[in-house]
Amino acid sequence: MPHPQGAASLSTGYNSRAMPILDAHMLEFFSRSPEQTRRIGVRLGGLLKAGDIICLEGNLGAGKTTFTQGLAQGWGSLDTVSSPTFILVNMYRRADGGHLYHLDAYRLDSVPEAEELDLDSMLADGALIIEWPKRLGNLIPGEHLWIQLEHMAEEHRQMNFHAHGKRYDELLDGIRQSMFGGV
Ligand SMILES: Nc1ncnc2c1ncn2[C@@H]1O[C@H](COP(=O)(O)OP(=O)(O)O)[C@@H](O)[C@H]1O
Ligand SMILES: [Mg+2]
Repeated sequence: MPHPQGAASLSTGYNSRAMPILDAHMLEFFSRSPEQTRRIGVRLGGLLKAGDIICLEGNLGAGKTTFTQGLAQGWGSLDTVSSPTFILVNMYRRADGGHLYHLDAYRLDSVPEAEELDLDSMLADGALIIEWPKRLGNLIPGEHLWIQLEHMAEEHRQMNFHAHGKRYDELLDGIRQSMFGGV
């Protein structure tokens, strides 16, 4: 027989653990050196799974590639990260056969060119990091982690993480746990 009192206390318990909406979907970091930016990347990289999408938005020199170096290191890449130059996408490998894709859309000239990128088959096979994600327009799936990097001073960068979707809320929780030992 349902017990109204029990249901009420269950929902009170849930509410008492709930965090403010802003905190649940956002995380902010202030980095004071390239090494610190890499270390934040290492934390996130260790949590990445096939299908994850990480969008890195920010001007030239904001630290997108530096952060990606940390991501690849934390993920366990056997390969060195470099800016994709003549090709748009780099693929990094891991000892277990896993793949990590690094797409730099800076040189994309047109939407038709972007449409030739087969994001779906990359995502079926690995996580995907995208520099200059706005150039891909609506090709970016609605669920992703959006990271805004901003140049504040010569060695200072502000990094704002925005989770879009449940998986990315989980990733933010994972970063909080690994950096701060929980909430
Ligand atoms: N706190 C910091 N985080 C990241 N990069 C930094 C920082 N401070 C200085 N830098 C420098 O800024 C440059 C960032 O370059 P890069 O990562 O290639 O940027 P992007 O890919 O956004 O164009 C590098 O030369 C790096 O050494
Ligand atoms: Mg770059």
